[in-house]
Amino acid sequence: MNRRNFITLFSVSLFLNCSPILFAASYAAKPKPKPKKKPSQSENWIDIGTIAELDKAGQIFKQKSSLGAILVIGTSKNNNLIAVNPTCTHLGCTVDWEAKENIFLCPCHASEFAADGKVINGLATKPLSTYKTKIEGNIVMVKRV
Ligand code: FES
Repeated sequence: MNRRNFITLFSVSLFLNCSPILFAASYAAKPKPKPKKKPSQSENWIDIGTIAELDKAGQIFKQKSSLGAILVIGTSKNNNLIAVNPTCTHLGCTVDWEAKENIFLCPCHASEFAADGKVINGLATKPLSTYKTKIEGNIVMVKRV
């Protein structure tokens, strides 16, 4: 083997031995894709419960959430959910949904609120806070208006 053949053979051998290392290094250097956010974490929507819970009782009440207390009224079938903070704006009692009258009624001093949270009657002067609602998959979600 002459010197020229030796150098050629050595160069090819060196390339073949190092190429898997170079390939592995370039693969490891690629940034990993970011994990997709859960629907509940996107755009400030928060999970309130499941469709099954909503349909069973016609409402879901969550005392504590990042948005405060939340009461969602309706079923997944009517596609017309109502969501409010059920804390009465008079002195802070929790209002109840009166389905027959389509109002929120405060058990403490009988203030009445419309489905959109506006005061209809009573000592309360400010409306209930309301939330946007949506159903994603089998999860009921709300978001600040
Ligand atoms: S606390 Fe609701 S009307 Fe007084």
